[in-house]
Amino acid sequence: MVNTYTYHTSENVIRLVQITDPHLFKDEKGELLGINTQASFNQVLTEIGQSDFNYDIVLATGDLVQDSSDEGYLRFCENVKSLQKTVFWIPGNHDFQPKMFDILNQHHGNISPIKHILLGEHWQILLLDSQVFGVPHGQLGQYQIDWLEAKLKEHPQRYSLVVLHHHILPTNSAWLDQHNLRNSLDLAYTLAPFAKVRGILCGHIHQQIDGEWNGYKIMATPSTCIQFKPDSNSFALDTLQPGWREIELHHDGRIETRVKRIQHAEFLPNMLGDGY
Ligand SMILES: [Fe+2]
Repeated sequence: MVNTYTYHTSENVIRLVQITDPHLFKDEKGELLGINTQASFNQVLTEIGQSDFNYDIVLATGDLVQDSSDEGYLRFCENVKSLQKTVFWIPGNHDFQPKMFDILNQHHGNISPIKHILLGEHWQILLLDSQVFGVPHGQLGQYQIDWLEAKLKEHPQRYSLVVLHHHILPTNSAWLDQHNLRNSLDLAYTLAPFAKVRGILCGHIHQQIDGEWNGYKIMATPSTCIQFKPDSNSFALDTLQPGWREIELHHDGRIETRVKRIQHAEFLPNMLGDGY
């Protein structure tokens, strides 16, 4: 089995689109706290298609399906065909991995199971699995840490973007921050010897973060469905709209990025929801 995907380009900039946390259901009409997650996902995909951002690949960063259904994963595979570029993915806490792997890996569309991507001459992307089965918080197991270290050692001359579902920087929401990546210190120790690591990208928190941690650019991205309110100790939703992220990896190691939100439809959740 091939374990590395090589994206050949002589361009000076590599462009990525990130979509995250679609939470699809078996039923196309399924709702999460009053938002039809299929409809909001469709709207995000439509508006990505309408944008003039000429992306090279797509990263889908977990919580693809809310109810472990075959139908949810199959519909995800069908839906992302419209993006017309290779889609790479990682699991989130809500994903059911046996089913997710079966369906996404057998899919003969534009979805790739590969977790190590070499892009052009200057960059690599490392996709990690931070799921702990059955619980919402995240942890990088020893296999993930060892794999990450091995890939960084194999390509020390490349700038690296590390991708995982769970968040590292706090959202200042106690209910959500207890579900963070628990062993971020292990990640820090693993990355520290490699001077060309530039960024860490996650989903999970259904809100935007553009921050910095140990010198790495930290990016978290709105969900394609419901949004969680920052700085709220107890569970609270936001009325911000579903979105996605554009990322540009420059040949000199710079990362430029921006969050986009849908503009041609409006999704408002049931604000009285008390958890998800
Ligand atoms: Fe999540």
